[in-house]
Amino acid sequence: MADRIDELPRIHQACWDELTRAARDKGHAWRMMALATVAAPADAGAAPMADLRSVVLREVNPHERTLMFFTDARSPKVAQIAAQPASTLLVWCPQLSWQLRLRAQLVVEHSGLAVSSRWARLKMKPAAHDYLAPLPPGTPLAHPQPERGTREHFAVVQARVQAIDWLELHPDGQRRAVFDADGRGQWLTP
Ligand SMILES: Cc1cc2nc3c(=O)[nH]c(=O)nc-3n(C[C@H](O)[C@H](O)[C@H](O)COP(=O)(O)O)c2cc1C
Repeated sequence: MADRIDELPRIHQACWDELTRAARDKGHAWRMMALATVAAPADAGAAPMADLRSVVLREVNPHERTLMFFTDARSPKVAQIAAQPASTLLVWCPQLSWQLRLRAQLVVEHSGLAVSSRWARLKMKPAAHDYLAPLPPGTPLAHPQPERGTREHFAVVQARVQAIDWLELHPDGQRRAVFDADGRGQWLTP
């Protein structure tokens, strides 16, 4: 286990350094994030429900404090984000013994340079098939293997991080801190 960092600004910086590393390093545990959104109820009058799924962290901009994911523009999460852009992202890294709970505002981009430049890089790779299914994600199928289509439904999700809830598990005692959108930190009871 690495030496513990004692100063809040250095912990905040280390969070962003590790997130940046995670977007580049396929072996980093933070590359796989759990993204929680709010799902509208199927029945009118019922309460909204939390929804959750795995997403791959593709890019990080530590200066803008943004994260980027790719998705199928027709996936249910896209409609959920349009209705309620506030989300929570969760990651845990056993090597660091750090959990991050990130509060973020999400924006889905369907067109424009951010989308076309990423699709141009992705479309020659096997992962492009994830965005070429002829039917929207979640559509019932007669067979387990979906067909392949030709039209892409690629979209980019930008997450602007507004708060980081950092938790460190350690044999000498757990530590927890929260950082606001400007990086100001506050120790919390774990
Ligand atoms: C390891 C793993 C990585 C995934 N990465 C992504 C991703 O980057 N983007 C994405 O939209 N879905 C990804 N998925 C699929 C989602 O978890 C989810 O099943 C799908 O997007 C439909 O979600 P929705 O119905 O909430 O829209 C991944 C699934 C797994 C198991």
